[in-house]
Amino acid sequence: MTASDVLTVHGGTPLEGEVRVRGAKNLVSKAMVAALLGDGPSRLYDVPRIRDVEVVRDLLELHGVRVRDEDDTLVLDPARVGRAAVDEIHVHAGSSRIPILFCGPLLHRLGHAVIPDLGGCHIGPRPIDFHLQALREFGAVVDKTDRGLQLAAPHGLRGTKLELPYPSVGATEQVLLTAVMAQGVTELRNAAVEPEIIDLICVLQKMGAIITVHTDRVIEIEGVDRLDGFTHRPIPDRIEAASWAAAALATRGDVTVRGARQVDMMTFLNVFRSVGGAYQVDDAGDGGIRFWHPGGELRATALETAVHPGFMTDWQQPLVVALTQARGLSIVHETVYEQRLGYTAALGQMGATIQVYRECLGGTPCRFGRRNFTHSAVIAGPAKLHGADLAIPDLRAGFSHLIAALAAEGTSRVHGVNLINRGYEDFEAKLAALGARAER
Ligand code: EPZ
Repeated sequence: MTASDVLTVHGGTPLEGEVRVRGAKNLVSKAMVAALLGDGPSRLYDVPRIRDVEVVRDLLELHGVRVRDEDDTLVLDPARVGRAAVDEIHVHAGSSRIPILFCGPLLHRLGHAVIPDLGGCHIGPRPIDFHLQALREFGAVVDKTDRGLQLAAPHGLRGTKLELPYPSVGATEQVLLTAVMAQGVTELRNAAVEPEIIDLICVLQKMGAIITVHTDRVIEIEGVDRLDGFTHRPIPDRIEAASWAAAALATRGDVTVRGARQVDMMTFLNVFRSVGGAYQVDDAGDGGIRFWHPGGELRATALETAVHPGFMTDWQQPLVVALTQARGLSIVHETVYEQRLGYTAALGQMGATIQVYRECLGGTPCRFGRRNFTHSAVIAGPAKLHGADLAIPDLRAGFSHLIAALAAEGTSRVHGVNLINRGYEDFEAKLAALGARAER
């Protein structure tokens, strides 16, 4: 960490103004991987300049994909896809979780794939067993090496029947990106159906794939021999949108998030309203949602994170900062990741009263109950937050620390802010546009 990685934040000023969100990080990066499957070039609009996009771009270029910027559009041409130098692939070890999704497309294109060790946020053990099990069922031979994974498909890949033990976003994407060109039909049960996944299905369908989304988390994919390139405008980033909404609420501000879409955020909007936040959906032009604190006191709530259509785990951390300002006891039960409450210790240092528990507090007992994971929290509010020295542990927690620093009285020093660039484009410029007082 360097001095330039520290943001000094003078809190206590309500955030007011307008920001714009662009294509969702968790779709854009996957659509870029899908471009590998096309015979022709693909065009992806509204691509944010964030670290995860850079990592995927580097890996694509290493495999011979020509990537060109046209303003905020990426043109990806896979005409010359070929094997990459193994040492250069491993340079990306630990940088992101997206490389695991290169498996299927590389096996189809080259019959072989080398995947670096994965990175991503430290919010639980984040195993890849579902991915590997699925790839083996398609007929891939998977070897774990001391540097990552090596895969081959000596007899090609064949469609199969699969059921995920849990509706994992990444494993569902892995199956989609592999099944679209596997021989025959694939049936995936207990699939994740997040809006970003449906958008990836739209991308693949534009390329020529045949995919049916049934009710009850069943997806059926009929393999085809070839796919074309695509032209696609991605779903807007609903995690970033909710982060700015939470920042508006926590700082008693008023922020319009241009590009945010109601349909992708319905569960968030319900919670936002029930704790006392106000919002207004604007359907004109670019569209967007205005989020504001209407004055008075916020109300405590009980919420549980879950797979779609539940309350997203990535919305949890920013919203908890706002809940420190609500009157009464709020209960949060994190059921997607077992270690996603670590950041609450820093809020405690700033004056919040938050107690974490191993028990499943809330409606439904989850996979983590009685397994020594502190995955429930009780937040007592309203608390007067004061500035502190904070170290950012992961992407969403990092943004939450930033919101807390903005809501607090006094000055905070937030260390490790470069991590926020992984998922929030130009966040410092956006903060400045909203009137935040912060400097490197
Ligand atoms: C995606 O992660 C997102 N990342 C996450 O956003 C998001 O929090 C998550 O989905 C849930 O919505 C990207 O899209 C790049 P999962 P992913 O597989 O796909 C367990 C952010 O900040 N699991 O749905 O890695 C896993 O441990 C990030 O933008 C297995 O046990 O999430 C977790 O408990 C953070 N074995 C649960 O499933 C596996 O093989 C859900 O994970 C795979 C997953």
